[in-house]
Amino acid sequence: MASQTILGIDIGGSGIKGAPVDLQRGELAADRLRIPTPEGATPEAVADVVAELVEHFSDEVGSDSPVGITVPAVVHHGVVRSAANIDRAWIGFDADTMFTERLGRPVHLVNDADAAGVAEVHYGAGRDQQGVVLLTTLGTGIGSALFLGGELLPNTELGHLEIDGHDAESRAASSAREREDLSWEEWAERLQRYYSVVEALLWPDLIIVGGGVSKKAKKFLPLLSLRAPIVPAELRNEAGIIGAAWHAQHIG
Ligand code: BGC
Repeated sequence: MASQTILGIDIGGSGIKGAPVDLQRGELAADRLRIPTPEGATPEAVADVVAELVEHFSDEVGSDSPVGITVPAVVHHGVVRSAANIDRAWIGFDADTMFTERLGRPVHLVNDADAAGVAEVHYGAGRDQQGVVLLTTLGTGIGSALFLGGELLPNTELGHLEIDGHDAESRAASSAREREDLSWEEWAERLQRYYSVVEALLWPDLIIVGGGVSKKAKKFLPLLSLRAPIVPAELRNEAGIIGAAWHAQHIG
């Protein structure tokens, strides 16, 4: 059904990816296109790339259908409110209005982890799961998405919990493993500390781990000992695109 094919765009630190999404199936309806994130990643430079992606897929999704867009930051009523790993010019920027005007179609802006979480809860590792589900993405930073009965509590930002005097993501994100050249065992110790604190605060029934490193989940998830089951995300690097499109369709 044409109205079920919605464009999703995922803005990341190294690439901006987009694809039309079949929301009935929770799958990409065409191959995704990835364009490197411009140096500096200012709002204007990113908007140019987003416009290119929309143009590229306009035949598939039509000229006035909505588009969902993720950003790796807090999004409060369309306004970006943080910038842990992106240009500081985004803070306080009404990106929803800017993209809507630039693209000439309805836009829904959403935090990247919230988008990935929505995709996993509807179509992936969290489907049909009762109770409290927590998705975390382990990448440059740590993103989080928290659900109760499938409903999202947006912008939880659990990557920025202060643990042992540190911003948690600075020690436990996948980028920390690479930067400090940690073994899987060493990194797993940090993850153990991180998820233990999160568990003690939120008591999730299921923890889903996303981000590029979730492809290698076998190397570190079995090293963790937690109360809740902890499982890899299923939609991998398509989750952000799928969740962005879901938001555009369902939240508007
Ligand atoms: C940001 C979050 C984002 C996460 C993953 C964190 O540094 O504060 O908003 O979801 O990184 O990109």
